[in-house]
Amino acid sequence: MHRNEILIFVIIISCSFKAVDLCHNNCECTDKILTCHNFTKNDLNSVKFHQSITAVLEQIHITKGDIPELDIRNLCLGDKRLDSLIKLDLTRNGITRITQPFSDCVPNLEELALSHNHWNVSTIEVNIFQNMTKIKKIDMSHAFLDNSDFINIADLQAVFSDNNLQALEELSLDHNEFSIFDKNSANVVCAFPALKVLDLSYNFLPKITLYHKTCLPRLEYIDLSWNSIITIDDYSHNGLLYSLDFIQSGKLPNQTVLTVNFNGNEFDCDCGLLEFRNWLLRTNVTVASKNELKCHNGNLLNRTIVSVQSNEFKCFSVNDSSPTEHIVIGVLVTLLVLVVLVFSVCVFLNRKKSSVL
Ligand SMILES: *[C@@H]1O[C@H](CO)[C@@H](O)[C@H](O)[C@H]1NC(C)=O
Ligand SMILES: *[C@@H]1O[C@H](CO)[C@@H](O)[C@H](O)[C@H]1NC(C)=O
Ligand SMILES: *[C@@H]1O[C@H](CO)[C@@H](O)[C@H](O)[C@H]1NC(C)=O
Ligand SMILES: *[C@@H]1O[C@H](CO)[C@@H](O)[C@H](O)[C@H]1NC(C)=O
Ligand SMILES: *[C@@H]1O[C@H](CO)[C@@H](O)[C@H](O)[C@H]1NC(C)=O
Ligand SMILES: *[C@@H]1O[C@H](CO)[C@@H](O)[C@H](O)[C@H]1NC(C)=O
Repeated sequence: MHRNEILIFVIIISCSFKAVDLCHNNCECTDKILTCHNFTKNDLNSVKFHQSITAVLEQIHITKGDIPELDIRNLCLGDKRLDSLIKLDLTRNGITRITQPFSDCVPNLEELALSHNHWNVSTIEVNIFQNMTKIKKIDMSHAFLDNSDFINIADLQAVFSDNNLQALEELSLDHNEFSIFDKNSANVVCAFPALKVLDLSYNFLPKITLYHKTCLPRLEYIDLSWNSIITIDDYSHNGLLYSLDFIQSGKLPNQTVLTVNFNGNEFDCDCGLLEFRNWLLRTNVTVASKNELKCHNGNLLNRTIVSVQSNEFKCFSVNDSSPTEHIVIGVLVTLLVLVVLVFSVCVFLNRKKSSVL
């Protein structure tokens, strides 16, 4: 009995020594979770880091470091992949490039956080998300840095469309300065049959196009808040409003209704917004703070969109200037003619005078 106790004691002591020993200085190592801060490429390549990694790890957090170029194979145990890993957090590492597909090392990942990095969207590696059949959540908010004027979300097409992201339920692309989301970009988000939450807030998107046919049938929440939407396309078969209604109409009574968030956009309440007002009043889609969405211009400034009457949504064309403008222009022209006349008469009289002298 006594001997057994001593043996257990020795085992506990040596195990705890081992755990302390094999943990990188900037890391915290527990059975299932590895947390590391302030890492550089050298730290990732170090023996100490590789000793911190075990095959049973379920979560790895490497954050607040300086890793411009990430080779995901640095996380593997030699050739062995981390089959148990379900969560990988790589936020705030100044990552500009990820050179290898995640599935090379973490094939069963369910959650991936890549927010607050410096990815260049035009040079993003095409196959990095390939074969991630289990992934449910990808966070790419604040993930891109680009000095070009217009960041087209279509640049992500190659990354998303070819992949088997069949289980993806949540995608965050907010705070990325995306400014184009047109017909060609529509398919970018249509690659996700299971997607429930799409966050596009805090970009510069003036409009969003979805293709209703097969796009996002499971969608429950789309966040378009704090973008540059000033007007919404007519209710047509490729338009956003039609697509939202279509997704909602495909839902069973026991499924979560679709919610859309338009807050923080500066709507221009001219004739072009009438269809949007009508849609707000009739749709079965839930619109976040529907009754607080406001007009952001002219006479209708600060009126809530739902309170504006049909005949108040007006458009003025450039040629159709008002009567007062005509009068002002007429007066100005007359004055100019008078000034020229007086001037000419003066010159004429002066010349006559000097020729007489
Ligand atoms: C991070 O590491 C650098 C050197 O690699 C060191 O100078 C700095 O003090 C560290 N910062 C923190 C917060 O540990
Ligand atoms: C994805 O899986 C297919 C089939 O298993 C394989 O041919 C391909 O190389 C894989 N791609 C990556 C990036 O691992
Ligand atoms: C992103 O890549 C493009 C094309 O290579 C390049 O022109 C641009 O300067 C890069 N932007 C940044 C911020 O590195
Ligand atoms: C919703 O109802 C359908 C049948 O009406 C059923 O097949 C499905 O399993 C239900 N889903 C949930 C999540 O309860
Ligand atoms: C809203 O749902 C009701 C009940 O399912 C349906 O009859 C109606 O046509 C729907 N309205 C719209 C605008 O889709
Ligand atoms: C409109 O609303 C904003 C914010 O609520 C307020 O600061 C502004 O004074 C309002 N303008 C008018 C003309 O009511």
